[in-house]
Amino acid sequence: MSSSSSLALVTGASSGIGKAYAEALASRGFDLIAIGRRQERLDELKRAFPDVAVEPLVADLATDEGVAAVAELAGSRPLTMLINNAGVAHYKPFAELSADEAAELLSGAKGQGVSSAAGPPIQGRERR
Ligand SMILES: NC(=O)c1ccc[n+]([C@@H]2O[C@H](COP(=O)([O-])OP(=O)(O)OC[C@H]3O[C@@H](n4cnc5c(N)ncnc54)[C@H](OP(=O)(O)O)[C@@H]3O)[C@@H](O)[C@H]2O)c1
Repeated sequence: MSSSSSLALVTGASSGIGKAYAEALASRGFDLIAIGRRQERLDELKRAFPDVAVEPLVADLATDEGVAAVAELAGSRPLTMLINNAGVAHYKPFAELSADEAAELLSGAKGQGVSSAAGPPIQGRERR
């Protein structure tokens, strides 16, 4: 971890909105735990911000194992911020989705387990 005392966990940090949050936070000196399924994209993020600590974690939040791994990390680290953004969106009517796209949308990323684990530690720190 860098000298910064702020640590953010960002799910879906490998692209889109989550990546934009991760980059904005790293630019402001936050250390990051960056979650996604694409290792190379998380590694790119780490390389782009050498002045802060970026810890990539590959996890599939559509699986119980992936949620458990991220929830354990979220509950055990001194997080100051959680951006729980991972998710799937196909920007067209449901009836026009392929079978694979529909299955992916319905199995979704299970962000609730991550929020449940990260919430109490973050709230506890805010009360002090
Ligand atoms: N963009 C919009 O206009 C908009 C509007 C309203 C709501 N949203 C919602 O905001 C969220 C992000 O949207 P976006 O446009 O930024 O999408 P995106 O570019 O497709 O990014 C989605 C992110 O979530 C990660 N992700 C998806 N499924 C995952 C899984 N099972 N496990 C772990 N990580 C997973 C992806 O990483 P990997 O592929 O590397 O796993 C990626 O980093 C989505 O839930 C979307 O529905 C977006």
